[in-house]
Amino acid sequence: MAELFINEENELGKIEPEVYGHFSEHLGRCIYEGIYVGENSDIPNENGMRTDVVGALKELQVPVLRWPGGCFADEYHWKDGIGEKSGRKKMINTHWGGVVEDNSFGTHEYMELCRQIGCKTYINGNLGSGTVQEMSEWVEYMTFNGVSPMADLRAANGHKEPWTVDFFGVGNENWGCGGNMTPEYYANEYRRYQTYVRNYDKNKSIKKVCCGANVDDYYWTEGVLKTAFDHGKKFHGFMDYLSLHYYVHPEGWKRKGSATVFSDKVWYKTLYKALCMDKLITRHGAIMDKYDPGKKIGMCVDEWGAWYTNEPGTNPGFLYQQNTVRDALIAGITLNIFNKHCDRVKIAALAQMVNVLQAVLLTEGADMVKTPTYHVMHMYRYHQGAKLLESAVTGAGETGTKKWNVPKITESVSKDEDGIITITLNNLSAEASEDMNIKLAGTGYKVTEAKIVTNSDIRAYNTFEAPEEVTERDFKDYTESIDNISVKLPSNSVTMLRIKK
Ligand code: AHR
Repeated sequence: MAELFINEENELGKIEPEVYGHFSEHLGRCIYEGIYVGENSDIPNENGMRTDVVGALKELQVPVLRWPGGCFADEYHWKDGIGEKSGRKKMINTHWGGVVEDNSFGTHEYMELCRQIGCKTYINGNLGSGTVQEMSEWVEYMTFNGVSPMADLRAANGHKEPWTVDFFGVGNENWGCGGNMTPEYYANEYRRYQTYVRNYDKNKSIKKVCCGANVDDYYWTEGVLKTAFDHGKKFHGFMDYLSLHYYVHPEGWKRKGSATVFSDKVWYKTLYKALCMDKLITRHGAIMDKYDPGKKIGMCVDEWGAWYTNEPGTNPGFLYQQNTVRDALIAGITLNIFNKHCDRVKIAALAQMVNVLQAVLLTEGADMVKTPTYHVMHMYRYHQGAKLLESAVTGAGETGTKKWNVPKITESVSKDEDGIITITLNNLSAEASEDMNIKLAGTGYKVTEAKIVTNSDIRAYNTFEAPEEVTERDFKDYTESIDNISVKLPSNSVTMLRIKK
């Protein structure tokens, strides 16, 4: 019998809503078809954005959306994506599938999408192949309120009012697709480019994201921070976040592995790799602590998720993959880790939002289906903006194989403004349920809502024909007494309980 101890008297920090953010790149069918179908499409849309997709994203309470890349960002020239659509440049998307990019989705369309979803904006600038002037003018175009060449151009293109840019990434993966730079070279470029990411509105400062490491590249983190903060550079207004990218590839970067056909052993191997996020945050965080002991710079895990071999018969450059119960667990595990590191992790973005990698939504023509990952993020939405509570599990032990052994249960617990406590629990075992007693410091707690995402088959997934194979269902397997809540967590499940006195 396992026990979950919660000390609701001990609040450990705020879980920033932006930790539940998303990422949309000009890649495959993420933006085009998945989100934007154009104003003249037969698919129901508002100003070109699919109404089904926007509706589902609103239910998810998406807090922030990163755009336009990814690798695409460091080849994106924003002026190609403004003005009359018929006059916009056509180009080849060299990174992703070699298809024609007609630039019909640009800055105005992205801002319209964020308006419809009701989320914050996170623009990723081009440092790899763009100029300082180009980056500086983009910021002026989006945010300057007054007379200036770029503000005038924006008005001429139909948007007199400036927009709000909440977050701005100064390059993406500049150790790789963003220019193959050394950490020192990039950090010097970061210093220069970020200077011209101006805050035109003193009441709304743009938060700057510096390009961080890939996976366990601690050399990058150390080199970037050392160079960026050379000569006693202060971080205030200079660097607000340092990013981290980490994808789970069950069979490694080259082979990756199928999204739907996998053994129990690979199930555990995948979850073991998902759990590595904890170590990565801890170790990169320790380097950040050296330069920023007050934790003023947030970690921004702006690309995370599972990356499998693309679905058979699809363009390999489109990164289209299915999403099973295994992905539900990856999401549950990762979000619990982020919650527990809320002192450092301040933004994150699941890669990617629609039709690419560990997407929350898949589309085909006019059809749309919610993936298991969608349902987990929906259950976890209650953690957004809540206070992390001290909690720990005992007695659940480990599961998995000798090499890929994992804790059987992972959890995180938070309390919202109304005093409602949200508990999210993952059972990583592919075969065994777990009985658990939940103990709090106080007594008299009652369950107000309980949901679960699971399926008897760990490989189950949703299709357009059967969209509810893996969905959010009411969780009923609990009993309450004055000082205890007992639950039975099925194998391979993600469970959410809301409790209140
Ligand atoms: O999300 C797909 C790609 O993965 C992004 O374009 C890039 O930043 C990362 O390597």
